[in-house]
Amino acid sequence: MKKGYFGEFGGCFVPELLIPPLQEVEKAMDNILPFSKFQAELKDLLNNYAGRPTPVTFCPTLSKELGFNLWLKREDLLHTGAHKMNNALGQALLARYMGKKRLIAETGAGQHGVATAAAAARLGLECVIYMGAEDVERQASNVLRMELLGATVHTVDSGSRTLKDAINETLRVWITNQETTHYCFGTAAGPHPFPTLVKKFQAVISQEAKEQMLTQTGHLPDLVVACVGGGSNAIGAFANFLEDESVKLLGVEAAGTGEPGCFNSAPLNLGSPGVLHGSYSMLLQNLDGQIEPSHSISAGLDYPGVGPEHSYLQKTGRVKYSLVKDQNVVAAFMRLSKTEGILPALESSHALAWVFDHQSEIKPGSTVLVNLSGRGDKDMGIIESVLHGQGGVAHA
Ligand SMILES: Cc1ncc(COP(=O)(O)O)c(C=O)c1O
Repeated sequence: MKKGYFGEFGGCFVPELLIPPLQEVEKAMDNILPFSKFQAELKDLLNNYAGRPTPVTFCPTLSKELGFNLWLKREDLLHTGAHKMNNALGQALLARYMGKKRLIAETGAGQHGVATAAAAARLGLECVIYMGAEDVERQASNVLRMELLGATVHTVDSGSRTLKDAINETLRVWITNQETTHYCFGTAAGPHPFPTLVKKFQAVISQEAKEQMLTQTGHLPDLVVACVGGGSNAIGAFANFLEDESVKLLGVEAAGTGEPGCFNSAPLNLGSPGVLHGSYSMLLQNLDGQIEPSHSISAGLDYPGVGPEHSYLQKTGRVKYSLVKDQNVVAAFMRLSKTEGILPALESSHALAWVFDHQSEIKPGSTVLVNLSGRGDKDMGIIESVLHGQGGVAHA
């Protein structure tokens, strides 16, 4: 396959001024990342700072209710509360090897911002985070966490005031700061080399999960399910199972409220191919090619595009992609919390909701692994407003 492409998807469609820093990152990915000293340092950070390996947890009560064996890969237990830390530490370390002094990053739910702020603090780098104004409001606790970790948080007021606009702003800022600054991109999307680089750092999820499931159950899971925003936790959860034909893989996108005329965040299910943030992939656009606003109850999935490898995996049929509505997500959040004592992130609750809603399609006795990408602490405000009937779900 052509470098930077997944079939017809991917590429590097950026203004000329962004080519040099992207080439510098590509060179670092090819030459520094495989280097044993780099790998040893990253492993030490992942294990002794971030808390890897994360366990896989069997859900006894839910398994009984559902009639199949439900397991969770516990990325919610990782330092700062989500899988984002795998990539943030990897890129922060790479940036230091590249001689950069400063990280900039976009964030949606705030989890990538918090992870980047923590990684920067740990590795002695300055950190500036860009976040859409709507996300600053709905994920306020994460804004404070980033600031406490020493980062400066810039509110982005343009466009839909969410993740898409935060990425636009960070790319713009990178153009004028490339000598000193690395853009720590938060998901497996964007221009080459980011989809490949982020996958390399997130693949640890399925590398561990495969070994752990073999040790604990004696076989591979029959189905692996993950939510899809830009696609980093899903590609990390799928990567080491792609060659295992017996393992079905399923990505879950956000349908939003699901009401006619309302926005969604499901480019793989409801979009068409085009270019967004430097990559050719599935996206939400109108007939003139203008990007449509997205919506999800979870800020981390509220993005009109998706990483190019997911578009490819959908096209080849290796991975299936479905979608679930906000209200089912909240129900799944409640169900896991009450039955297993785990508060999942609303993003991860999409994957759970799909499993709960499709119980009848899953073979009794089979083994299902859900990637629990993050913990729900950041979502308490949203859950509270939903429970107290103040909406929070509807958004057109
Ligand atoms: C907990 C959690 N899960 C999933 C996502 C979605 O991102 P991705 O598709 O890159 O995994 C986010 C994004 O912020 C998140 O915070």
